[in-house]
Amino acid sequence: MKKIICKEFGPVDNLVWEDTEDHEPLPNEVVVDIKAAALNFPDYLIVQGLYQFQPPLPFTPGNEGAGIIKKIGSEVTKHKVGDRVSFMSAIGAFAEEMVLDQNLVFKMQDDMSFEVASSYQLAYGTSYHALVQRGNLSKDDEVLVLGGSGGVGLAAIDIAKALGARVVAAVSSQEKAQICSDYGADDIVLYGSSKLEKEQQKTFTSELKAKSIKGGFDLIYDPIGDCFAEPSFRSIGWGGRYLVIGFAAGEIPKLPLNLTLLKGASIVGVFWGTFTALEPETNKNNIKKLNQMVTDGKIKPLISQTIPMKDAISAINLIGNRGVTGKVVLVNNEE
Ligand SMILES: NC(=O)c1ccc[n+]([C@@H]2O[C@H](COP(=O)([O-])OP(=O)(O)OC[C@H]3O[C@@H](n4cnc5c(N)ncnc54)[C@H](OP(=O)(O)O)[C@@H]3O)[C@@H](O)[C@H]2O)c1
Repeated sequence: MKKIICKEFGPVDNLVWEDTEDHEPLPNEVVVDIKAAALNFPDYLIVQGLYQFQPPLPFTPGNEGAGIIKKIGSEVTKHKVGDRVSFMSAIGAFAEEMVLDQNLVFKMQDDMSFEVASSYQLAYGTSYHALVQRGNLSKDDEVLVLGGSGGVGLAAIDIAKALGARVVAAVSSQEKAQICSDYGADDIVLYGSSKLEKEQQKTFTSELKAKSIKGGFDLIYDPIGDCFAEPSFRSIGWGGRYLVIGFAAGEIPKLPLNLTLLKGASIVGVFWGTFTALEPETNKNNIKKLNQMVTDGKIKPLISQTIPMKDAISAINLIGNRGVTGKVVLVNNEE
């Protein structure tokens, strides 16, 4: 059995694809023959020791996947050998197989491919939770999505459109703008691929305001932070909610708090991982709704690339090079 191994925190290129012993399950565990595992931004951070959680070394990155159960422990009641399942885990998915507690593994929908099942729970789960529970999205809302063509950004566009809102997406390039338009974004603002200086930030705010038909956004979904946060916040409307999702552009931004006062606006934190642990029933309900929306064709997760699992290193580097649109999925054997 082969897996990607991080032996010490450092550059992504230090990861190795190595043979290890096959897994034997404990009584409550199952062994999953992994068919597909999705790439997520934390994979890029965690191997460099830059993520908020640092696993003991050595470890295998990768936190969501799908496959077929190949072995079960003596006390497993929820699954049987041959079941098609998806799973979430803090680490371990960039491998040919993985051992998991039976409660962390879920039956896949019959009509879903391994690629889709492996790749949409984290991105779509985060964006649904952010927009619905944290943002109180209504169909009359106008939503600005920053980093609109990335994993969570595109999911936010897809879900907000499915729920009837008007969406403006902001991205770095024309090519990424096209992806957002294909997913239903009503309008686009380009911010280029460099950091914004003070004057450019003012222009960015003006461009954003010009794209809002209400003169200010009800909801701003921000997975990028850095120099994009403050000029975006300045385009928020009265009573708006600013969803803090992540800091893909680098720095954690600081906002002058008078801006919240002037707009009667809120800054709302979103942490999907902790939400799933503390509010499992609400999360289960969210995933059920998302599954139904996939089945009904109301949302359609984008898998922009599939890459062999053994090439995970070049795949993880795509994140740092801003090269991911929608989801990139690592595969062991194509279906
Ligand atoms: N709060 C939560 O619960 C939660 C859950 C999942 C993810 N996240 C966070 O959300 C962020 C996005 O995650 P993701 O999986 O959607 O990542 P992704 O697919 O790689 O997308 C990141 C987007 O950020 C933009 N970006 C701007 N500056 C960048 C830079 N210097 N390097 C890389 N990308 C840059 C890119 O679009 P442009 O080129 O158009 O700018 C890209 O589309 C990450 O910070 C992640 O940790 C948070």
